[in-house]
Amino acid sequence: MLIARTLPDLRAACTRLRRHAETLALVPTMGALHAGHRSLVARAVSSGAATVASIFVNPLQFGPNEDLTRYPRDEPGDLAALKAEGCALAWLPSVATMYPIGEATAVMVRGPAERWEGEVRPGHFLGVATVCAKLFGQVRPDRAYFGEKDWQQVQVVKRMVADLLLPLEIVGVETVREEDGLALSSRNRFLSAEERAVAPGLVRALRSVAERVGFGEPAQAPLAEARAALEAAGFAVDYVALVEGTTLLPLDRDAPGARLIAAAKLGSVRLIDNIGIG
Ligand code: PAF
Repeated sequence: MLIARTLPDLRAACTRLRRHAETLALVPTMGALHAGHRSLVARAVSSGAATVASIFVNPLQFGPNEDLTRYPRDEPGDLAALKAEGCALAWLPSVATMYPIGEATAVMVRGPAERWEGEVRPGHFLGVATVCAKLFGQVRPDRAYFGEKDWQQVQVVKRMVADLLLPLEIVGVETVREEDGLALSSRNRFLSAEERAVAPGLVRALRSVAERVGFGEPAQAPLAEARAALEAAGFAVDYVALVEGTTLLPLDRDAPGARLIAAAKLGSVRLIDNIGIG
């Protein structure tokens, strides 16, 4: 596996990969890789693409009171995991490379970025869209793979790619879960034993709403009951909502492409999750 830490090295490595591979895939990550990230790399590699994974903890997508400084970092473990999945190139840029002195440009997505995570974490999607635009410009992949655990993020990035006419395809990959249903996340390691036992309640709440809404019941009561059950279990709920899957606009009942989304804090750890209805 090649490793690049500077733009000239990245350029040289991508040119080398392009000589042998028709398709280049990018898996953007912030490191602390788990089986969910590995599944993205595996999907990209199995598509036949030469796969580049970026590791960059992007300061621009963290708010002032968020967990940038304690975001887990494990470069040796990450590089070993990428290599094991058949990744061809790891791209590890510095903050100075990504945000050059005098930088004055950011990418602001409206539409799917406006609600939910966009409301609770102001500036988050500006940070995500900006760093993804930069990564796409640097690596110039044909496809980029994103985990559906961050469902809204996938829709925001797809919207940006469509609006900026960027020549790549965005592929969403299904969430990887623990046996008890908890969606894998780099932040799960911060859950205490008690919180870890409660955490699968988030997806269970979504599943119980999905069942009722899927049978045609209006969403309002099941959503309110799910929120109450989560709060009773100790979650501080940011939102539990039924939305149209692409625009993230709220729905009051099931419809094609509907998605149930939720975000809630357990102690200091913020969990997000989503499922389809079908
Ligand atoms: O999902 C993530 O890990 C990040 O938001 C991403 C897409 C790598 C951008 O920093």
